Amino acid sequence: MKVTYLGHASLSVEMKGKNIIFDPFISGNELAQNIDVNSLKADYILLTHGHADHVADVEVIVKNTGAKIVSNFEVVNWFAPKGVTGHPMNHGGKWKFDFGTVKFVNAIHSSSMPDGSYGGNPGGFVVWNNEKCFYVAGDTALTEDMKIIPKTTPKLDFCVLPIGDNFTMGYEEALIASDYLKCDTVIAYHYDTFGYIVIDKDTVKKAFKEAGKKIIFLEIGESIDM
Ligand code: NI
Ligand code: MN
Repeated sequence: MKVTYLGHASLSVEMKGKNIIFDPFISGNELAQNIDVNSLKADYILLTHGHADHVADVEVIVKNTGAKIVSNFEVVNWFAPKGVTGHPMNHGGKWKFDFGTVKFVNAIHSSSMPDGSYGGNPGGFVVWNNEKCFYVAGDTALTEDMKIIPKTTPKLDFCVLPIGDNFTMGYEEALIASDYLKCDTVIAYHYDTFGYIVIDKDTVKKAFKEAGKKIIFLEIGESIDM
């Protein structure tokens, strides 16, 4: 399974020959100017919530690739009149796609669409198949709801957690989340993009090392085999 960081909370994951993009926000991200949105491959786009820093590039990617979106009911409905087809989900539910099973799980955050309309409740995704299982938290506070995940999904191989603080949990809570999730390999995201979420990576790396956990910081555009 190949994971490519596209900056902010955007990731591309290649699994079972399919390309899955999470929360595309690339063209509006000054730090991600090395990524050409028009070159991205996608079969599915998974959207944790409706905020612009998670959905901004959906339409262009769908236009280029014909990808299908997967998100909560309200986000999928909002995109439908724009010619974007989608698979609606809601919290606690799972569905088997051709690349694996997707479970939509709780997040503590807000969700409105770029035009201010209602975006339903935000979530995160647990994705698994017979090779790997991983969790993409989306924008969220630390919540004990995360304790449910290892009880209801296969063992997580890695998790992708926001660590930028201010709009989401910070790295201190990500350490606790990692305990709740029973998963010691964390890919960091949702940091540095805006002034409010600039972090000191060395502090974060030190804290994870002291806790005996692994934190992975990917360069924007960098891929890793997980
Ligand atoms: Ni958000
Ligand atoms: Mn966000």
